[in-house]
Amino acid sequence: MKIIRTTRSMTAWSEGLRGESVTIGFVPTMGALHDGHRSLIRAARLRCDALVVSIFVNPTQFSPTEDLSRYPRPIAHDRALCREEGADVCFEPTAAAMYPEGFQTTLAVPLLARRWEGAARPHHFAGVATVVTKLFGMVRPHLALFGQKDYQQASLIRRLVSDLNLGVAILVRPTVREKDGLAMSSRNVFLSPDERRIAPLLSAALRAGEQMIRSGTDDVAAIERTMRQTVEQAPAIQIEYLAVCDPDSLEPLSVVAARAVLLGAIRIGPIRLIDNLLVKMPGRKVLNQGFRLKAEGGFDDLGFKQK
Ligand code: PAF
Repeated sequence: MKIIRTTRSMTAWSEGLRGESVTIGFVPTMGALHDGHRSLIRAARLRCDALVVSIFVNPTQFSPTEDLSRYPRPIAHDRALCREEGADVCFEPTAAAMYPEGFQTTLAVPLLARRWEGAARPHHFAGVATVVTKLFGMVRPHLALFGQKDYQQASLIRRLVSDLNLGVAILVRPTVREKDGLAMSSRNVFLSPDERRIAPLLSAALRAGEQMIRSGTDDVAAIERTMRQTVEQAPAIQIEYLAVCDPDSLEPLSVVAARAVLLGAIRIGPIRLIDNLLVKMPGRKVLNQGFRLKAEGGFDDLGFKQK
């Protein structure tokens, strides 16, 4: 596995392979890799001839109140995981290379960013949209993979890629969970044993909401109440939001129809956790279709190259 640090070498490597019609898969990360990342890297390895994983803790997606310097950076472990999973390149650009003096362009996806994570972390999605677009420009992938755990981020990136004709197929893969349901996240390592014990209440709340929808409830207020009551079993948890939304626009639904996404964010002490569940009900009428983006650029909906 090659470790590439400069943007120029990264692009030269990719351009060389593109010239030989090699398919390049890309998993962008901020490091502190866990089994959620591992499943993305494996899925990319299966689908592409060449595989790049980037590790860059992007400062512009942290707000001033979030501690960028505390973000875990276990680089030896991360490289070993990438190597184990067959990555060809670990791309590790420096902040100075990503944001040289004079840098000033930012991208906004205003409607998809305005609620939920975007409301709690006002500059977050501009930072994500900008860095992902820059990384695509440097890595020049055919296919890029993201986790469903960051549902709003994945929706926004699909929109961005379509709106700006970036020519990268986007594949969103299911959330990987611990045995007790907690969604894997680089932040989980900061939970104390007591906090870790109550953290799965977030996924339990989403599952309780899903259960209600599956058993025929379409009353959003009742579903949200049940989700809140599940989390409130632990007084140490603060709820930021638990919402039933349209899976495409991320706007709150007033009545559940054929598809909904349940979005949640909680705080346990200083740690913020997010999670979501997508609920699709076969046979129910679609009330709000919103927009739906298909995988593009010669890849099918499962991210495999079309013949
Ligand atoms: O999901 C992440 O790890 C980050 O937001 C991403 C997509 C790598 C951009 O910094």
